Amino acid sequence: VELGMGQGGLAVARVFAPTGTAEIYLRGAHVSAWAPTGGRSVIWMSAKSEYVSGVPLRGGVPICFPWFAAHPTDATAPSHGFARLADWRLTEAREAGDDVVLVFVLTDTEATRASAWPHRFEARYTVTVGAQLSLSLQVTNRDNVQLSFEQALHTYLDVADIRQTEVSGLEGAPFTDRLTGARPAESEPVRFGAETDRIYLNSTAATTVTDAATGREITVTKQGSASTVVWNPWIDKAAAMADFGDAEYTGMVCVETCNIRDNAITLTPGASHEMSVRYSVA
Ligand code: BG6
Repeated sequence: VELGMGQGGLAVARVFAPTGTAEIYLRGAHVSAWAPTGGRSVIWMSAKSEYVSGVPLRGGVPICFPWFAAHPTDATAPSHGFARLADWRLTEAREAGDDVVLVFVLTDTEATRASAWPHRFEARYTVTVGAQLSLSLQVTNRDNVQLSFEQALHTYLDVADIRQTEVSGLEGAPFTDRLTGARPAESEPVRFGAETDRIYLNSTAATTVTDAATGREITVTKQGSASTVVWNPWIDKAAAMADFGDAEYTGMVCVETCNIRDNAITLTPGASHEMSVRYSVA
């Protein structure tokens, strides 16, 4: 593990394990790259991403916490919560066989206690880099009241061509289409030919992203996560985002490991919850 300066002068941990390499910005504990040794990148980053304070990176694995998307009552609160904008501490880096394990910690600060979610908490994020990538977010209630939160590991996966990509594993699961409203379950894998923004609740199954243009399959296996989000902005939304290249929508898909909406987590004082996900490539 090398600690250095990444884009925009932001601190970054570069990980070189025998079986894989990765890069994690301390701002947001944001994984911005991972590839198994000799393989093509699995995690997508936008060439238009900003690397300045107050703006989240575009791509990688944003940690959405303690709310998802816009805050329900506070319009000034940042989209997807404060965790992806905060500086996390790297508290541990060690070898585990052929893998390298890093631990990042975020606790409440004066600023977060003044936010729309004013609670005392500890978040521990364990990143295991190797031939697979494992991410585990453990949140502990350090407050003296019960607290509730949403969370998402908003992973941008790299595909060669979204028009030849499908996401399987969600067949039979009803979803809310964020663009048109509730929708019944589909029997087919998700395919992409327009903006796609779906929330699957009570969805715990593994998903597989099949990228026919390269023949690559990325499997996403999760635990402690009851919701899944699938997102691709397509043409108009890509064009409307300043930090997203107009043509870049063809090269990515977000398959997000979440606990959101009716699946939000509630913790009594002292209690912890762990949500984890593993990415493997075939
Ligand atoms: C997805 C949401 O999870 O995140 C989309 O479902 C949203 O609606 C996308 O556009 C990106 O959000 P942001 O805040 O990173 O631009």
